[in-house]
Amino acid sequence: LVAQFQPKIMAGRKVVLTAGPTFEAIDPVRGITNSSSGKMGYALARALARAGAEVVLVSGPVALPAPAGVRRVSVRGALDMRDAVFAALPGAEVFIGVAAVADYRPQQRAEHKIKKAEGGLELVLTPNPDILAEVAALPNPPFCVGFAAESRELDAYAESKRRAKGLPMLVGNLVQDALGADDNEVVLYDDNGRYPLGRAAKDELARRIVEHLATLLAGGEM
Ligand code: CTP
Ligand code: CA
Repeated sequence: LVAQFQPKIMAGRKVVLTAGPTFEAIDPVRGITNSSSGKMGYALARALARAGAEVVLVSGPVALPAPAGVRRVSVRGALDMRDAVFAALPGAEVFIGVAAVADYRPQQRAEHKIKKAEGGLELVLTPNPDILAEVAALPNPPFCVGFAAESRELDAYAESKRRAKGLPMLVGNLVQDALGADDNEVVLYDDNGRYPLGRAAKDELARRIVEHLATLLAGGEM
């Protein structure tokens, strides 16, 4: 009900976002993954939909229902996530990378289950594509927002990530504050500076992030 009374500050804008971890298969039953509950990305998708945006949520494996009013595309590995993102991009004004994309995947995926009786297992890992960096490097890119989860020196790492990927906006948090929790403490970085959004429930932080984003899209400064 509350949703109906939120100002539709994102009306008429299409947003594609990624959320959750990716799962990189070793064989049909095993794989490697990252720690991510998907809660922050899902909260953001919900806040964007409430603000009137058309939302496509490209999600890795998580235990969360699709938010109302959001089109969810479920994927497993980073390569599938990249394909789904590029398929959803036409018409999008904004791309937000919230997913904890695995930086590596096993070079070979065994067709059949590996039997442990065969002994130890050596994995060769190959780097995954950086989905956010690829989208931001498109000739006519959407407005790109990154997330950075760091374990220390948040300001330095967040700003250098933002510059390295050429992002107009990045949301940073310390992992020890956030993983799996319902609340979080984040800092926003854009071309004009650093904006601590404080500690709050992920839903409330998502609302504040969407407010900041809508202001930047409208050509304003916070
Ligand atoms: N990202 C992505 N594709 C990847 C890796 C990261 O789209 N293969 C996005 C994430 O969704 C996030 C941002 O890039 O929005 C930063 O991710 P992060 O893991 O913090 O940074 P990396 O560039 O991967 O650097 P590192 O893990 O070494 O800190
Ligand atoms: Ca990474």
